[in-house]
Amino acid sequence: MQVIRDREALVEALAALRAEGARVALVPTMGALHAGHIALVEAAKRPGTKVVASIFVNPKQFGAGEDLGRYPRREQSDIRMLTEAGCDLLWMPGVEVMYPEGHATSIRVDGVSEGLEGASRPGHFDGVATVVAKLFNQVGPDAAYFGEKDFQQLAVIRRMVADLDFPIDVVGVPTQRDDDGLALSSRNIYLDEEQRAKAVALPRALGVAARAIGRGEDAATVLGDARATLTAAGFEVDYVELVDAITLSLDCTVERPRRLVAAARMGSTRLIDNIAVTDL
Ligand code: PAJ
Repeated sequence: MQVIRDREALVEALAALRAEGARVALVPTMGALHAGHIALVEAAKRPGTKVVASIFVNPKQFGAGEDLGRYPRREQSDIRMLTEAGCDLLWMPGVEVMYPEGHATSIRVDGVSEGLEGASRPGHFDGVATVVAKLFNQVGPDAAYFGEKDFQQLAVIRRMVADLDFPIDVVGVPTQRDDDGLALSSRNIYLDEEQRAKAVALPRALGVAARAIGRGEDAATVLGDARATLTAAGFEVDYVELVDAITLSLDCTVERPRRLVAAARMGSTRLIDNIAVTDL
């Protein structure tokens, strides 16, 4: 796997991949890779496709008081994992390459980015949309792979790709989980043993709630019960909501796909998760 850190080398390496007639699939990440990220690489590997991963801890998507400074960085093990997974190229620009002096443009996706994570983390999705648009322009992929774990992020990127006519196929990959059901996340390492044990309440409560809503139980009551369950388990609940799976609007109907989304804090660690609601 080639590891590339500057724009000129990237242009050359991509031209070489393209010369072999390959399609290019991009897997954007912020590093500290785990099996969830590797599942994206596995999904992207297709005959005739070269897989480009990127690692860039994007300062523009971290708010004041968030964990930018202590975000885990594990370059050597990331490179090893991507090599083993069969990734062809790793694009790893520095901040000065991504945002040279004078950088002044950002992308805001209205509507879908406004509630939930957008409300809790002002400016977060502007930072995500801006860096993903830049990665798309730098790499020029045919397809790009994102995890359903960050469900609103996936919806924001789909909206941006449609609105700005990026000729890119956006593929969502199901959430990879630990054996007990907790969604894999780079932030799980912040949990101590006791918090880690309690954290399983998040996927469990979402599963229970999704099945109840799918059976036709009153959504407001079910959501209230899920919030109470999480609080009793030691979480400080940020939100548990039933939303339209495309627009992320709270205004959703049984005629359209629905998603249960949640964010909750265990100690100082904020965890998010989501699950499809399928009608039984
Ligand atoms: P990061 O948190 O590193 O995640 C990179 C990709 O891995 C995202 O698409 C995310 O949804 C996916 N992912 C994380 N955990 C997963 C899991 N348990 N199962 C499946 N997929 C999972 O998301 C970002 O980085 C950034 O916002 C980024 C898109 C790179 C822009 O900076």
